[in-house]
Amino acid sequence: MNPISSLVFVLLLTVFPTQILCQTTLIEQACGYTIYKVLCLETLVPDSVAHSARYLKTLAVVSLNHTRNFADEVDYKIDGLRDSAKEGPMKQALINCSKRYYTVVEKLQAAVTSTAQGNVVAAKSRLTEATVNRQQCDQYFKGRHYESPISDLTTKLSQMQNNAEAIVAHI
Ligand SMILES: *[C@@H]1O[C@H](CO)[C@@H](O)[C@H](O)[C@H]1NC(C)=O
Ligand SMILES: *[C@@H]1O[C@H](CO)[C@@H](O)[C@H](O)[C@H]1NC(C)=O
Repeated sequence: MNPISSLVFVLLLTVFPTQILCQTTLIEQACGYTIYKVLCLETLVPDSVAHSARYLKTLAVVSLNHTRNFADEVDYKIDGLRDSAKEGPMKQALINCSKRYYTVVEKLQAAVTSTAQGNVVAAKSRLTEATVNRQQCDQYFKGRHYESPISDLTTKLSQMQNNAEAIVAHI
C-alpha cells in the first residue's frame, strides 16, 4: 500500500472498526469453509448485505442467492443459444438443458427461501435436486461430436453452489 492509501485505511478503521474488521472476519470465516475461496470472497466481499451480516446464516442465504442469480444467467444464455442454433442434436441438447435449468433455478430459489427460514434440511434436499438437474444438462453433451458451449458457465455455477453448500453446512 502506498502512504496515502495506508492513511485512508487507518482513518476508515478508526471510523468504521466493526464494519471493516468484524464483518470481514465473518466473511473470511465463511469462505474458510469453502473449496473455491477466491470465488467465495469475490462473491461476498462486494455484497452490502454480506458486509453487514452478523450471522453465518445471512452469508449462507446471500451465497445461495448469488448462485441462484448466476443459474438464471446460465439459463438465459442457454435459451439464446437454443434459439439461434440450427436444427440438429446440438439444438436438441440445448432444448433439453433449457428445461433442466428452469428447474435448477426453481430449486435454488427454494433453497434460498428454506435457508432464510432456518430449514437447513429442506435446503439441502433442494440443493441436491438442483445438482441432479445441472448434471443432467452436462450429460446431454457427453460423448457427442460437439462440445458443450456452456461448460465454463456450468463449471463456475457448480463451484458457486459448492461454496454455498459449505457455508450452509456450518450454520
Ligand atoms: C437476491 O438477489 C436479488 C437480485 O440481485 C436481490 O434483488 C435480492 O435482494 C437478493 N436477496 C438476498 C436475500 O440477498
Ligand atoms: C433430449 O432429451 C430426450 C428426452 O429425455 C432424449 O431422448 C434425447 O436423447 C435428448 N437429446 C439430446 C441431444 O440430449
